[in-house]
Amino acid sequence: MKIFIDTANIEEIKQAQQLGLIDGVTTNPTLIAKEKRPAYEILEQICKIVSGPVSAEVISQTSLEMVKEARELAKIANNIVIKIPLIKEGLKAVQLLSKENIKTNVTLCFSPSQALLAAKAGATYVSPFIGRLDDISQEGMQIIKDIKKIYSNYQFKTEIIVASVRNPMHVVEAALIGADIATVPFSVIEQLIKHPLTDIGIQRFLEDYKKIPSQ
Ligand code: E4P
Repeated sequence: MKIFIDTANIEEIKQAQQLGLIDGVTTNPTLIAKEKRPAYEILEQICKIVSGPVSAEVISQTSLEMVKEARELAKIANNIVIKIPLIKEGLKAVQLLSKENIKTNVTLCFSPSQALLAAKAGATYVSPFIGRLDDISQEGMQIIKDIKKIYSNYQFKTEIIVASVRNPMHVVEAALIGADIATVPFSVIEQLIKHPLTDIGIQRFLEDYKKIPSQ
């Protein structure tokens, strides 16, 4: 499973990159706003650090405006992927952009029916938001299973990005289901690495090492 980092923070991206873990980046207007700098400047910088796909979201609400905005965003770098919301106008825009070979990530997907339509429209990626479904007492991971089944039934090429990831178990479950990608906040990447028994084990080995006679 590919791992993307879900952030617009340059320091976090650099740190995750150093771990050799990052296959791509996803951003959204909320994540960009946290950085308090112009969006284009941030996206340009991210694309210089990461060679994999970098998702940048449109804010337009009509298909023609979305396409116009997407074309501008796509000029930033070759690895920019355009995030389009899963609404009627968004599906129209995805179709138009796929004809121009501009890659799309259909975002704010909350159901298998929406994911089916994203794939039919020609989306490169679809992002089901599992954490936000969990938040309203609906099991988010179930839609990943359903979308995976639907896509494999009809050999859709659209890749599933498990999004709105809140904890390490979301990542493990995504991998068990066979999702293509999980986009993970930096804090969860750190949680994935850590295990208390690893820390206790290191401590014990270091203490025991001191007991080994030098000659
Ligand atoms: C995905 O592409 C989104 O940027 C993100 O995963 C949303 O996560 P949230 O529900 O924690 O805001």
